[in-house]
Amino acid sequence: MIGISNTGIDMSRKKITFFSALLLGLGLPALSTLGQPPERPTQPFMRQKLVFASGVLEGITLEKFGLVLTNATALRDMSQTNAFLRLRNPNYLELSTNFQANVDALIAAAKAKDLSAATAAYQKTAESCVECHKSFRREQFILDRSTK
Ligand code: HEC
Repeated sequence: MIGISNTGIDMSRKKITFFSALLLGLGLPALSTLGQPPERPTQPFMRQKLVFASGVLEGITLEKFGLVLTNATALRDMSQTNAFLRLRNPNYLELSTNFQANVDALIAAAKAKDLSAATAAYQKTAESCVECHKSFRREQFILDRSTK
């Protein structure tokens, strides 16, 4: 009895695996080329922020303040280039100023080796990443549609 029902389960598992493999094999190559717009010139620059932000997080979580300092300083320097300005968002200046203020607090906390201040400043920095993206994404969506 037990043996038979086990075989039944085995069979349906095999079928599911077979069909999943089939679907993946047929679907993925098509999906990977569909719906991917070409890379915009600002994208590699933007992704670099993610690298520095995760460097900051690593520094905070391992209490390596030197790591916090170098990565936060790099983020600060990036925000001084005009790469964002190419995106013509009227809120840019305010969003960018907020971001810089939070990164400055992060730098100060790292210099003071103050873990809880650094953690709080990191959180605020992440919030300003999100705030800016919320505003830009709408703009970008409209821009993207107007060029099509
Ligand atoms: C002042 C505005 C602003 C701030 C602050 C900001 N970003 Fe962005 N970010 C943008 C804009 C605009 C884009 C989209 C640019 C594009 O796709 O051309 C973007 C895109 C990105 C992308 C996607 C890049 C891609 O491959 O499409 C990542 C990742 C990113 N930002 C990370 C961050 C992180 C992490 C922070 C905070 C540490 C941050 N950003 C703060 C404006 C901002």
